[in-house]
Amino acid sequence: MAGDVLIAPSILSADFAKFGEEVRAIDDAGCDWVHVDVMDGHFVPNITFGPRLVECVRPHTKKILDVHLMIAPADAYLEAFAKAGSDIITVHAEAGPHLDRSLQMIRSLGKKAGVSLNPSTPESAIEFVLDRVDLILVMTVNPGFGGQAFIPAMVEKTARIKKMIGDRKIWLEIDGGVTPETAPSVVAAGANVLVAGSAVFKGGNQAAYAANMTAIRKSYGGRS
Ligand code: DX5
Ligand code: ZN
Repeated sequence: MAGDVLIAPSILSADFAKFGEEVRAIDDAGCDWVHVDVMDGHFVPNITFGPRLVECVRPHTKKILDVHLMIAPADAYLEAFAKAGSDIITVHAEAGPHLDRSLQMIRSLGKKAGVSLNPSTPESAIEFVLDRVDLILVMTVNPGFGGQAFIPAMVEKTARIKKMIGDRKIWLEIDGGVTPETAPSVVAAGANVLVAGSAVFKGGNQAAYAANMTAIRKSYGGRS
């Protein structure tokens, strides 16, 4: 089971001056997905990049582009992110009043739909959209920055969401503070996709990225 856990490095921790090279490096180093953190300086206190970046990195990997929108409102930008080449588009439950509509829009654009919860948002916020989602992203830090400390209370939330998912085919993704020290607890709670930014990109080259991913996978008994 642990062998099925996917690693999605966040390019928030890459060198922004060479995204193409960095995406090829994590791809060649054996990542499963590529996680793209979009921030608007409004929903979160930081600004990153928009659909144009997704379009520019798209030719550099065939792996799933997992686009995490930390923007409000999100609906007006969903089509642009879909056209840019995203595979999964995740919106925050807190980002707008019509989550159900946002999720329907993402699927109608032919993309997998994800919903994310901030650390303080209870899992009940997504109880009635479970049949509209392909992915649930549990924030294990307050969104906005890489390199923050994992919030331990999120392990219990992950386990509760795993239970809510039941037999549905929904990825359960963890984002924030994932390291070889914290990964085993969320994998045990049922997570099957781990986003990791600083823990993958430390070292600054492909060999280091490969070793960093191996260390995370080994921590929970995954493939090495
Ligand atoms: C935080 C982002 C995360 C972040 C994770 O707002 O959503 O994806 O890059 O970075 P680390 O792994 O360094 O906590
Ligand atoms: Zn993210």
